[in-house]
Amino acid sequence: MVIKHRQYSGPDDFALVGDFLISVYRPGNKDGNWLQPTWEYMHSHPNLDESSLSKIRIWEESDEIVAVVNYESTLGEVFFQTHPKHTHLKQDMLDYAETHLYGETETGNRFVRAFVNDFDIELETLVQSRGYEMAGKYTRPISEFLIPQQFPPVELLEGFHIKSLADDNDLMKIHRVLWRGFDHAGEPPEEGIEWRKKMQSTPNFRKDLTIVVEAPSGDFVSFSGTWYESVNKIAYVEPVATDPDYRRMGLGKAAVLEGVRRCGALGATVAYVGSDMKFYQAMGFTKNFDSNCWIKHF
Ligand SMILES: CC(C)(COP(=O)(O)OP(=O)(O)OC[C@H]1O[C@@H](n2cnc3c(N)ncnc32)[C@H](O)[C@@H]1OP(=O)(O)O)[C@@H](O)C(=O)NCCC(=O)NCCS
Repeated sequence: MVIKHRQYSGPDDFALVGDFLISVYRPGNKDGNWLQPTWEYMHSHPNLDESSLSKIRIWEESDEIVAVVNYESTLGEVFFQTHPKHTHLKQDMLDYAETHLYGETETGNRFVRAFVNDFDIELETLVQSRGYEMAGKYTRPISEFLIPQQFPPVELLEGFHIKSLADDNDLMKIHRVLWRGFDHAGEPPEEGIEWRKKMQSTPNFRKDLTIVVEAPSGDFVSFSGTWYESVNKIAYVEPVATDPDYRRMGLGKAAVLEGVRRCGALGATVAYVGSDMKFYQAMGFTKNFDSNCWIKHF
C-alpha cells in the first residue's frame, strides 16, 4: 500500500485527526498517542499559533490517517501520533519536523523539541542518534485515575459552592480565576475575555463538565475543565487552577473530583491528566508514563 503525506487543513482535518486519535487509543493510553481531548484542548487554547497549523502533517494509507506530526502551541514542539502498524513512519516524521516544524530562537537559531514517550525505545534511539539531548524541564507526564462506580461524596468547605458553567457562565469570573490561578499578578486584562470565549468554542466543550468553586464573596476561586470522550469512555482534566488566595483549602481537589464524578456518571471509567503533581497524586492519580522532551539546536 502506498503511504502519502499531506498538509493539515481546516475543520475537516481537525475532526479526522480527532477520530484517528480515538481509534488508536488503548487502555492506559498504552498507544502513547495524544488523547482526542488533548488535541481538542490545543485548538481551544488562547496561546495556539494558528498561523502555522498548515505545517502539521498527515500521513495516509488509502485515504485513512495512519500518522500525524504536530506541535501544541508554537512551532518547535514536535509530537508524534502513529497507528501501531505504522510506527516505522517516525523517521519520516522527524525528517519532516526538522525541515518544517522547527522553532527559532530570538537570535534566529533553529531548534526542535521532540517529545518521546519513555517506553518508545525506537524513537528515543533515533533522536539520540541525531544528536538530540534530553531537556528534563519540559517533561510531560501522563497520569490516570480509575473512576470508582460508587463515587465518594465530593467534600467542600462550608460557605463555598461547586457550580458548573452550565449554572453560571460568567466570563469575567472565569477569566479572573484562570488569570490569577495561573499565577498572573493582580486583576486580569479585560481583552482576555476573548480568550475565555475561545476556550469554549470547540465541539466537545461542555459547560456542565467545566467546574468552578464559588467563594462566599461570589468570586470563582477554583476551576477544573473536564472533557468526556464517549467512544473510549475516558475523562480528561484540563485546565485546573486555584486562586493563590484560596490554595490548600481542598477547593482544587473538589473541582477536579466533581468533574471526574460527572464524567463517571456519563460512563467514563478512567480520567487522565497531563501532570504528576503531588496535588493529583494526593487524590489518587498515578503516573502512567513520561513524554520526555529531546531538544536539538541546528
Ligand atoms: C495545583 C493547584 C490547582 C492546587 O489547588 P489547591 O486548591 O490549592 O489544592 P487543594 O487544596 O485541593 O489540595 C489538595 C491536596 O493536594 C496536595 N497539594 C496541593 N497543592 C500542593 C502543593 N503545592 N504541594 C504539595 N501538595 C499539594 C495536598 O495533599 C493537598 O492536601 P493538603 O492541603 O490537605 O495537604 C494550585 O496550586 C494551582 O492553581 N497551581 C497553579 C496552576 C497549576 O499548576 N495547575 C495544575 C496544572 S496541571
